[in-house]
Amino acid sequence: DEGAVVESLLARMTLEEKLGQLTQSRGRGSDTGPRVPEGGEAQIRAGQIGSFLGVYGADYSRQMQQVAVEESRLGIPLLFAHDVIHGFRTTFPVPLAEAASFDLEAVENAARIAAVEATAHGLHWTFAPMVDIARDPRWGRIVEGAGEDPYLGSRMAEARVRGFQGTDLTAPDTLLATAKHFVAYGGAEGGRDYNTVDVSERTLHEVYLPPFKAAVAAGVQSIMPAFNEVAGVPMHAHRPLIETLLREQWGFDGVLVSDYNAVQELMQHGVAATRTDAAILGLEAGVDIDMVSGIYLEDVAEAVRDGRLDEALVDASVRRVLRAKYRLGLFDDPYRYSDPAREAAMTLTPAHREAARELARKSFVLLKNDGDTLPLSKRLRTVAVIGPLADDRRQMLGNWAAAGRPEDAVTPLDGIRAALGPDVRVLHAQGAEIDGDDVSGLDEAVRIARQADAVILMLGEDQEMSAEANNRTTLDLPDVQEELAQAVQATGKPVVAVLFGGRPLSVNWLHDNVPSILMAWFPGVEAGNALADVLFGDHAPSGKLPVTFPRNVGQVPIHYNHKNTGRPPDAEDKYTSKYLDVHWTPLYPFGHGLTYTRFRYDDLRVKTPRIGRGEAVDVEVTVTNAGGRAGDEVVQLYLRDDVASFTRPVKELRGFQRVTLQPGESRTLRFRLEPEAMALLDADLRPVVEPGTFTVFAGGSSAETSETTFEVVAD
Ligand code: IFM
Repeated sequence: DEGAVVESLLARMTLEEKLGQLTQSRGRGSDTGPRVPEGGEAQIRAGQIGSFLGVYGADYSRQMQQVAVEESRLGIPLLFAHDVIHGFRTTFPVPLAEAASFDLEAVENAARIAAVEATAHGLHWTFAPMVDIARDPRWGRIVEGAGEDPYLGSRMAEARVRGFQGTDLTAPDTLLATAKHFVAYGGAEGGRDYNTVDVSERTLHEVYLPPFKAAVAAGVQSIMPAFNEVAGVPMHAHRPLIETLLREQWGFDGVLVSDYNAVQELMQHGVAATRTDAAILGLEAGVDIDMVSGIYLEDVAEAVRDGRLDEALVDASVRRVLRAKYRLGLFDDPYRYSDPAREAAMTLTPAHREAARELARKSFVLLKNDGDTLPLSKRLRTVAVIGPLADDRRQMLGNWAAAGRPEDAVTPLDGIRAALGPDVRVLHAQGAEIDGDDVSGLDEAVRIARQADAVILMLGEDQEMSAEANNRTTLDLPDVQEELAQAVQATGKPVVAVLFGGRPLSVNWLHDNVPSILMAWFPGVEAGNALADVLFGDHAPSGKLPVTFPRNVGQVPIHYNHKNTGRPPDAEDKYTSKYLDVHWTPLYPFGHGLTYTRFRYDDLRVKTPRIGRGEAVDVEVTVTNAGGRAGDEVVQLYLRDDVASFTRPVKELRGFQRVTLQPGESRTLRFRLEPEAMALLDADLRPVVEPGTFTVFAGGSSAETSETTFEVVAD
């Protein structure tokens, strides 16, 4: 069994071999695919490497595995890891977009497909899902998570863990998932990646920790600490949060893998003077694997020998690494993941592409649609598709696209041409670059706009403007694109704007001047087809914002689940919490998203208006499609503890359901609120339900809800 295999190996390992298991090396690109670095094979043979980052390919991973299994002294198989974030070869929408679908099944399925493709290429392990709550859209990594809400973030974390890991880890198509970055990485000051985090313990437990807890409960097998510090302690040296909370209290028994070079960076943080000191801090905190710096392999043995580090700590980490290998079934068959036949059959299949197209459609958020400008008719004579993102394959994939290839992507222009067929003239002009000063394309854009019955503007960010280290101090569209939009809009033609981006954008001018705006994020390999499906009405958009869109960057942080304060904003009263220059409300609130029909909410009611502590309450609401077309609605349920011993957010998401309704159709939905949903953390951070009234809100956005109350009575 697991324990026996692991212990018998451990008993035979030299200290150097143990440290080898705790060392992750990084692959390098080559003409024939990702390869181990120079000298890597010799290191495998010598037992100096336990895992690789960014090395894959069925044949090649098999060869390297063979070196480990047949030519190293103990024959311990390698782990091959990679950042498989939103698909492997079949690129799905970026994670923030996936979260906008509010469709847990579809998100789980996307992770499942990513696992099927990645494992066929020899990979065992992904550094995903990123479950960091992000309330600062300046932070580039907001694109990689599920947005600002701990409840949505927790459900998405579970779905993704289930998808990557499947139901049986020993099956050859399961990836070890990694919940990252533990913890509060999204709280970086100023939205600057890697920056200091200063967060209260309460906020840590209420906002940043819940998705990690959910991932652990869903069985996640690995966790990556964050680059940042929390309250003066860098997370790669944070014993209380790693050993005490994560391992002892939550029972996490998987592997902790450092972020890139991050154990060594304990020196830059100023808590370690030497590499050896840094390595000791990392191991003492329970960081099992060092990613790429080589610090465990090179700088720990001496510390063990001279008594500065207890070898038992090294053993504990090695045990966890060997256990992961055992759980994947690699001691039974180390080659089960490296299967060229499966690789050929299971990559970018039509079914995988179809799943990507469906999820992309569900992730689009219709921000605005005055006069039902969308959907456009397929019987227009001439359509102009204008903008720097109209025909750029690479952009469609978004950042962190694993093995996604631009050449496989369908651009908006391709998709629109295919959907409209030969009878509609589709004109195209780039008009402007994504960013820069060149305005020479404007005239051509205006010229073709004048010939068209409708114009579709494809605007937004470059995919390099979000993700790791890609932080921005503005959420505005680059000036040159706004100029393009203004010039095109001045033609008087009906204009629809499609926005691409990995973060909320403050598109005030578009909001004030263009009738329809669709947030498309980075939709993935099927971008153009999914967009055409929605723009021309074969499918209705149904995504909802997983994050607030501010009016401008100065409003940040702005999130729906804020506190009321002692002086909530009041237009009539100067001395309340607001700004002089912009309204306090956002441009688009959390949960917002329109579609091609309208939904009405009636009869919000609780089944039992008075309950005891420890009891659940059922809430019902009737939703009716009051418009003329079929559509999906994401029905959202929020809760507020009206008076409590600690201040509570004005509302917090506690449930959501996606429903499809035909015109005129009504459905009564039931939500069960368990005591955990009503609980707050007491002074010792223990969950407790306090007696008193609670307000329940239901609606199609955090800002448009009906409400009712129930009461929890004391025992
Ligand atoms: O997994 C990532 C992490 O999220 C950021 N730094 C690099 C790692 C490996 O690519």
